[in-house]
Amino acid sequence: MSNNDTNDQEYQNITSTLSSFYKFYEYQLEKLVKPRIHKFEILPKQDQQLLLWYQKHTEYIQECIHINRIFTQKLAMDAAQDWGIPLEHEIWAPASQKQFELTQLILLQLTREWSEEGLKERKNSYNLIMNQLNDKFPNFLERSTKKILVPGCGLGRLVFELICQGFNTQGNDNDYHMLFTFNYILKNCDLPFNLSIFPYLDNSLTNFTKRQFQIRPIIIPDISPIEKLNELNKKYNGEVPYNDLISITAGSFIDLYGKVLESDSKEAQQLKLQNKNQFDIVVTEYFLNTGNMIEYIKTINNCLSTNGIWINYGPITEENNKDNEIDFTKEDLGELITKLGFQFLERSDFKDSYFSNDSSLSTNTQTCEFWICEKII
Ligand SMILES: C[S@@+](CC[C@H](N)C(=O)[O-])C[C@H]1O[C@@H](n2cnc3c(N)ncnc32)[C@H](O)[C@@H]1O
Repeated sequence: MSNNDTNDQEYQNITSTLSSFYKFYEYQLEKLVKPRIHKFEILPKQDQQLLLWYQKHTEYIQECIHINRIFTQKLAMDAAQDWGIPLEHEIWAPASQKQFELTQLILLQLTREWSEEGLKERKNSYNLIMNQLNDKFPNFLERSTKKILVPGCGLGRLVFELICQGFNTQGNDNDYHMLFTFNYILKNCDLPFNLSIFPYLDNSLTNFTKRQFQIRPIIIPDISPIEKLNELNKKYNGEVPYNDLISITAGSFIDLYGKVLESDSKEAQQLKLQNKNQFDIVVTEYFLNTGNMIEYIKTINNCLSTNGIWINYGPITEENNKDNEIDFTKEDLGELITKLGFQFLERSDFKDSYFSNDSSLSTNTQTCEFWICEKII
């Protein structure tokens, strides 16, 4: 593929992602409201009389979709501006069904990472990770010389918490949905608790004990990154260079931080060489099972400095049905990690859930592996 083709494809990916935010309300109306109205209309009149709440609830859903629209359209416009994309949304590439589904997922991801409701879930992993880092790097003022990489950083809450702890932290993600939203929260939310989103509209009512839970707003962000960084800058009076601690990279972890390949372009080779042995710490959180684990582990080894630390938290079961990838037991994975140049310093597991929702009748508990490894080869 020529450079021009790659650029065209990238532009298409960016603008279709923007469309999936901008036109999200159309998707939600079509998916959530239209079928509800139809199902009610075809009921016999006597049955309609049994469900007097139904039409009002549909109106509430419509109102919630409208409020989601205010958020997703603003996000699309701000992201377009930041990425130098023309603001005429009519000329953006159309979004696919899968991209709209990803926008829906972003609302849940925001709940996990940037709301008070997500605090309990975040604490499970963040406390383990922060305790390790506090133990290993107790001198707060020296932490800004330590470089942390967080591959698959999602909406970047962990990245943000790490910079608040004084570490120089780079987040990496390959998904424009995540990157646009993380950037929006980081740069545009100067007040906490000033945006409402409705992430549960898409859940079937059978998931809830009460229908009101479907139209429950989540208020974000629970913390304003701008406000928090101002506070920290004041507190440490320039002793910690907070504004320079954060960076974000867009692209595949393996392509940006992996070993140089002969087939790589000159630019790709240069980028990979810049990242080789560069990081003191890599933190993977709910990331390892998103792709080829062998390549991920090799890449972590490649970008860590000698005696660098790798902290992992998350399930090792496959997220998607990946036909071409090897299945690993916990034991196999441990052996593989050791063979690829690491020594385990600690290893344990915990039951945890992702997108947990206290109002929901269904649960999604899984076993998460936590380990700290040192790169020895
Ligand atoms: C399950 S989410 C975890 C997000 C966040 N770390 C958390 O704990 O909530 C996995 C993240 O990895 C990203 N991801 C998947 N494959 C990737 C790759 N090859 N390179 C970079 N990021 C990737 C996804 O876009 C997504 O944001």
